[in-house]
Amino acid sequence: MGVVASAPAKIILLGEHFVVYGEPAIVMAIDKRAYARVEKRNDNRLHVRSMDLNLEVFFENGSLRVEQGDLKEAKMKFEPVKQAIEKVMEKHGQHVGLDIEINSTVPVGAGLGSSAAVIAATTAATGAILDVKLSKEDILRITYAAEKIVHGTPSGVDPAISTMGGTMLFQMDTGFKPLEVKTNIPLIIGDTGVERSTRVQVEKVRDLVDKYPRVTEHLMKAAREIVLRAIEALKENDLETLGTMMNINHALLYGIGVSDESLEWLANAARKAGALGAKLTGAGGGGCMIALAREEKLEQVSEAIQRSGGRPFVARKTEEGVRIE
Ligand code: MEV
Repeated sequence: MGVVASAPAKIILLGEHFVVYGEPAIVMAIDKRAYARVEKRNDNRLHVRSMDLNLEVFFENGSLRVEQGDLKEAKMKFEPVKQAIEKVMEKHGQHVGLDIEINSTVPVGAGLGSSAAVIAATTAATGAILDVKLSKEDILRITYAAEKIVHGTPSGVDPAISTMGGTMLFQMDTGFKPLEVKTNIPLIIGDTGVERSTRVQVEKVRDLVDKYPRVTEHLMKAAREIVLRAIEALKENDLETLGTMMNINHALLYGIGVSDESLEWLANAARKAGALGAKLTGAGGGGCMIALAREEKLEQVSEAIQRSGGRPFVARKTEEGVRIE
């Protein structure tokens, strides 16, 4: 008998990249989830398979063997998963062979936190099958440690939202604070289809900050003020201000070099079609953008994104973080 767990993807409404330097970000879990099914094996192998990625590997005595797919990709995607499982096994006190099957409705490498969602779901399912009691904080800690392998110096925002769900204000030194958002926030996600690495994007910003600290310091301050103003706008159900904050935030992200041509096309098309605001979401350099639009404009904005070469879908917020299915 197997156990299935799932965790949501996320969008960063405001504050990506600046969050790595201690500034606040507003993040929201969305109704796209990653699923992990875990079953015990009779031997002590760790077998991991992802249908979506066309990857199948096993780990035996610490070394990785690829049964299907590319070795480099398998290492990048599954090493963190293995590390998370090992942490759960340490708590269990014994190594156990497991079959892990990953299924995800979250586009990979697109800024929607797919890796954190996969790791959080796998950690929860492994804990459940081994009868290891894991609190959400335990799952968050394990997922964050594993994420560091993929993303270098992540802020921890992705594991936090995938584990806890809802909408939150996240800051590195204070952690996450749930934000109560009563109003509907109609968002369209536009996937550029350009895959990129969060690690590379974060390093690129690091170089810029190291080189021009006196300039970037002011951009950081502006990013903070944008988030603070947006919190007020959310309280007042003021979508127009929220949209304007998204546009300014996107301009700052462009300024630090993390936008690209495909994102600019989609953001401009969305604004032209009546979006109140549009910005890249996540690490940028491709991946996804988000557009805020009134309900009656959702279709028009979606069509504009599609015409500009993006894959649009409407995102709804979800309150549920990681869960056993
Ligand atoms: C990635 O989803 C968000 C970044 O700010 C990196 C991070 O916070 O770890 C780009």
